[in-house]
Amino acid sequence: MNGAIFFSGQYGSTEQYANWISEATGLPVFNVKDRNADPSKYDFLVLGSSVIIYKLTIHKWVKSNWSSIENKPVMLFTVSGAPAGPKLDGWIASCLPQQLITQMDHVALRGRLEPKKLSWWTRLILRIGAWRNPDPEASKQECEGFDFVDKSTIEPIRKLVEQYQSGAEAISSQAHSSRY
Ligand SMILES: Cc1cc2nc3c(=O)[nH]c(=O)nc-3n(C[C@H](O)[C@H](O)[C@H](O)COP(=O)(O)O)c2cc1C
Repeated sequence: MNGAIFFSGQYGSTEQYANWISEATGLPVFNVKDRNADPSKYDFLVLGSSVIIYKLTIHKWVKSNWSSIENKPVMLFTVSGAPAGPKLDGWIASCLPQQLITQMDHVALRGRLEPKKLSWWTRLILRIGAWRNPDPEASKQECEGFDFVDKSTIEPIRKLVEQYQSGAEAISSQAHSSRY
């Protein structure tokens, strides 16, 4: 089985993870903005998406490439400030087709936020989000930034890819991964 990584990110951390996964697995990696990013050529797909304002940035690409995705093994990795849990699950559910959610594997990776590198407008949006966030820790992180990017957290993805490559059904009970 041959596969590829398709990622969508805005500030570099999803791309960083996608490149690390590519190095660890030997899979080719494509930014979904690249015109050559054609999922129809592959037997299985690793999709990587950042989460920005409660949305998966890859959602439009998934919609427009759905016919090449729907019948393939898919592993999604998300990159977000929020950790794995019901909040993240809810954002995924609102962005991706239910059919994909029920059949894919998911690994939640955590990202990086550097407020100084953002425009004043984006910082304002984050401040409003922080003000409305009932979770004090998450609210503080939205204002002050965070860096949870950690290469070692791609390990469950590497293992899943190994299973996909051998044609075996992925096992949902891998550490940090979940199948809906
Ligand atoms: C404007 C903005 C909005 C964000 N919204 C969310 C969010 O709704 N939920 C979340 O968990 N993380 C959120 N984050 C954190 C990003 O998911 C995190 O910075 C991630 O590393 C971004 O990936 P990227 O560097 O590939 O763009 C937000 C970050 C920014 C800059």
